[in-house]
Amino acid sequence: MLHLHRSSYALGVNRAGFLVNRYWGARLPTESIPDAADSEGWASFNGPGQLLPEEYPAWGSGLSYVEPCLKATFADGVRALDLRVVGAEVNGERELIIQLRDNHYPLRVSLLYRAHPTHDLIERSVTIHNDGDTPVRLERAFSAQWHPPAGHSYRLSHLTGRWLDEWHIRRDRLPHGTTRLESRRIMTGHQHSSWFALDDGGAGEETGEVWFGALAWSGSWALTAEVTDFESQMTRVSLGVNDWDFAWQVPPGDTFTTPATIAGWTDGGFGAASRALHDHIREDVLPHGVTSHNVLYNSWEATLFDVDEPGQTALAEIAADLGVELFVMDDGWFKGRHHDRAGLGDWSPDTAKFPHGLKPLIDRVNALGMGFGIWVEPEMVNPDSDLYRAHPDWVIHFPNRERTTARNQLMLNMAREEVQDYTIQWLDALLGNHKISFVKWDANRNVSEPGGWYGEEARELWVRYTQGVYRVFETIRARHPHVVFQSCSGGGGRADLGILRHADQIWVSDNTEPAARLGIQEGFSQVFPASVMEAWVTDAGTLSLDFRFAVSMCGALGIGANLLKWSDEERRKAKAWVALYKQIRDVVQLGDQYRLLPAQGQGYSAVQYMAKDASEGVLFVFRTHLAEPATFPTLYLRGMKDDARYTIEGLDGARSGAAWMRAGLQVPLKSEIVWTHGTMEYRIGDFTAAVRRIARVPG
Ligand code: DGJ
Repeated sequence: MLHLHRSSYALGVNRAGFLVNRYWGARLPTESIPDAADSEGWASFNGPGQLLPEEYPAWGSGLSYVEPCLKATFADGVRALDLRVVGAEVNGERELIIQLRDNHYPLRVSLLYRAHPTHDLIERSVTIHNDGDTPVRLERAFSAQWHPPAGHSYRLSHLTGRWLDEWHIRRDRLPHGTTRLESRRIMTGHQHSSWFALDDGGAGEETGEVWFGALAWSGSWALTAEVTDFESQMTRVSLGVNDWDFAWQVPPGDTFTTPATIAGWTDGGFGAASRALHDHIREDVLPHGVTSHNVLYNSWEATLFDVDEPGQTALAEIAADLGVELFVMDDGWFKGRHHDRAGLGDWSPDTAKFPHGLKPLIDRVNALGMGFGIWVEPEMVNPDSDLYRAHPDWVIHFPNRERTTARNQLMLNMAREEVQDYTIQWLDALLGNHKISFVKWDANRNVSEPGGWYGEEARELWVRYTQGVYRVFETIRARHPHVVFQSCSGGGGRADLGILRHADQIWVSDNTEPAARLGIQEGFSQVFPASVMEAWVTDAGTLSLDFRFAVSMCGALGIGANLLKWSDEERRKAKAWVALYKQIRDVVQLGDQYRLLPAQGQGYSAVQYMAKDASEGVLFVFRTHLAEPATFPTLYLRGMKDDARYTIEGLDGARSGAAWMRAGLQVPLKSEIVWTHGTMEYRIGDFTAAVRRIARVPG
């Protein structure tokens, strides 16, 4: 029984020795929790496993056909598992470890449960021990199965997308049978996020019961949501390393540990579910913890590969004047990198572009009062590089098969220790020899021809690759603990709770057009807090600079425009926005986020951030399209103290928190284009935004 702040999660051993879920939902007194269910099965076609909410179902024994968490083959060819509970231990106040053992073979499974009471979250992972003297082959090793209450038909909220177009929120009624979301790409992928939320179809942003969760893994992953008839509709959600083409040989005496999955319950709707994950990520996951990030400048969209010392210096000088705190030089700085056809792998400064190395530029950037950041793509290599010419065998490939390039590059086999060591060595030298405080770690393709792990089991590549990437991160972070890392994979292709143990931020999308970005940011915010959401103001699109700043100020503000082309007026405006952002950034990045009106598919949206102590906040309102004559929606603010008094910039007078939250307010966003129709006058035009600070005032 795990009692959290507002919810309870109970499991128990039934008479047959199976570990089953007893309850997950609103907090209940211990004595009200149902006993661990037993089952005789149903008819001759379904055994007990089919009817029980098993916490970690293993495949093979009995008439169970539900999605299992574990599937294995023993050395003698037996492929049936029969796991029963053999013990449990409590570790301090927060951890519970349940031991399962096969009833014949020396295979042990430790289920770890870690409670996060204040956020109503449970974290689970599994270690599989081979206590025998012959190897065991794992063919599926998920992290957990989650059981929302039976008897309901659930709607699954999930996130889908593609490159340049990530983070679409979808809400689909779960059909009977199995729904599967996954990545087969060796990376998290742009296509789906390893996140889910279940509700009965009636939850909203601030109301309704929601069961939600995510997987902390940056490689191929799978989520299965299975609905069966039993108990008038049972829903099981499993998450873990993808078992597609996966296998893992556990040698005698060895173990395999899965990544963690975290899940929670709330009755505060999708907004509260997001805020629980935001708090968890900031407080328990991120390497630098609860901290806000600097305003950065990134050179990519301004210069592409045309990077050199004078050009970067010119940009840095303007950036510093605007108030930027961190100057990041993107792709194009290293040997032979004049385009995307060459250079990846050769991580020394290009001598034509930087004849005296990087030091003069870094010194200048530092003298301007900014930190210096750099772009790298450690997992990739161009065939046209010294590295590939020296080590053609270091890439992921199969013999006798073409090595398919994407963006003219191949993937280094990060599963191999020598490749990890090489990567650690050059990254360590780069960071050790230069004053670098930020690294953008990019990865611009997914796997093809997934060969190249030559151990006992070739299909371990899928996991060993990600473990290798994590090892490089861990080693480099330990040696350079002050460096802030950003995870990027062509935008949001590697965004998950696993990479956030190593990287502090995520580059959410390569799409920086602000109207598109509003929806992208909203989708991203389902899972991730604003502090990890790097958001640049660029030259993409045609919308006003004010609108672009307002959008990007909803995350960790950056600028990625060609500053050399900005007019004095644009620079003046930018300077003012950056100054304002510095005043509100802690509220935005570290406060509570409320999606007041949705941006995806709507022409008028609003998002509010409130400081944790409810002393201040900021309201962002966006008009992307409202037909005239427009009626402006009423916004009901959130997160205020009922009886405290607050002012809102641009509106007269202080009102109580209760009044702003219950009576609401309107922010009519009008443009200057006037259309008269008879005696009526309309101001038409879209793409206007407002940023309004909220302040608690005495009285
Ligand atoms: C993809 C990233 O998402 C961009 O921001 C940029 O860094 C390019 N790669 C550079 O090649």
